[in-house]
Amino acid sequence: MKRVRTVEWKRDRVVMLDQRLLPNREVYRLYKDPEDVIRAIKELVVRGAPAIGVAAAMGLALGARSLPEDRFAKDFERLCRAFAAARPTAVNLFWAIERMRRLVRENADRSVETIRTMLEREALAIHREDIEANRRLSEYGAALLPDRGSVLTHCNAGGLATGGIGTALGVILAARESGKKLSVFADETRPVLQGARLTAWELRKARVPVTVITDNMAGHFMQRGEISAVVVGTDRTAANGDVANKIGTYTVAVLAARHGIPFYVAAPTSSIDLACPTGAKIPIEERDPTEVSQFNGRPTVPSGVKVANPAFDVTPAELVTAIITENGVAKAPYKKSLARVVKPSNASPERTRIAATPRRGQRAQ
Ligand code: MRU
Repeated sequence: MKRVRTVEWKRDRVVMLDQRLLPNREVYRLYKDPEDVIRAIKELVVRGAPAIGVAAAMGLALGARSLPEDRFAKDFERLCRAFAAARPTAVNLFWAIERMRRLVRENADRSVETIRTMLEREALAIHREDIEANRRLSEYGAALLPDRGSVLTHCNAGGLATGGIGTALGVILAARESGKKLSVFADETRPVLQGARLTAWELRKARVPVTVITDNMAGHFMQRGEISAVVVGTDRTAANGDVANKIGTYTVAVLAARHGIPFYVAAPTSSIDLACPTGAKIPIEERDPTEVSQFNGRPTVPSGVKVANPAFDVTPAELVTAIITENGVAKAPYKKSLARVVKPSNASPERTRIAATPRRGQRAQ
């Protein structure tokens, strides 16, 4: 399966595909300044929880290169805070920042040049681990899907949303690769159209049959028996299994339950927040109202009318059939099963290797 080049580290620069322009133009942008990477996250040049995490890690490695040596730790902390303020819901952002921050803290006795190199290696490790997590969870998920039928997905949880082949779309691609005859219904996903613009673009490239529907059509197709399963991604899944994902996901989950259709969530463990007890504690991003009140730059709502634009919603754990991670499939009760699947990934082999490199004046063991 070919990977989309969503975010890459190239010759000390961050390169990202500008997702705002898809499906009409494929433009790769080169970033030299961490402030521009922060803006790119805010403005959805790069989006999707795991991809945001990878971009932030690379942005921090980039920023570390030009921070003055005498104020390095302090300025690096300031940069971490600036990245953390870019978007509030996807926990991968905070997870990746924390890994980079911890590395600086734990290596304060090393030279700044060494720390810069370690930060770059850590950002690349985060990227590599995401590629691997996508691959593994896709295989676990593929086994859950039926041999034939149509799978509904909401928003975009493909290669464009990750460093690898995607989570929800990875599951569908792996199932097809294993011989299952599956096609996809992609919800358009108002207001930013991640389903119509991005999921359809990716699936078309991968030659997967896809039908785009507006968000309010899902119930109709479920009622007619045309949808066999739902697979979505997540921006943050709480310890009890409540799932935050793109606005409209909750509606799809309620409809799936009404029609007895399994509702799967594909979640790398970097998207699971065990420190967050329930979905009620997940911060929901409120985006610019013009995303709703304008279409192609033209107003679609009378001026002066109030508009709401929450970017995510929370699907209660009771509506989730299973949560598919790179360490296995978690089922209810999620408090127990999620704790079990998240634990092994905390001890990343990459981190252990970096931590084991000798410090100044210390001999290798
Ligand atoms: O606002 P976005 O486009 O960043 O929202 C993305 C989603 O909601 C995805 O479904 C989620 O991040 C999972 S991506 C593997």
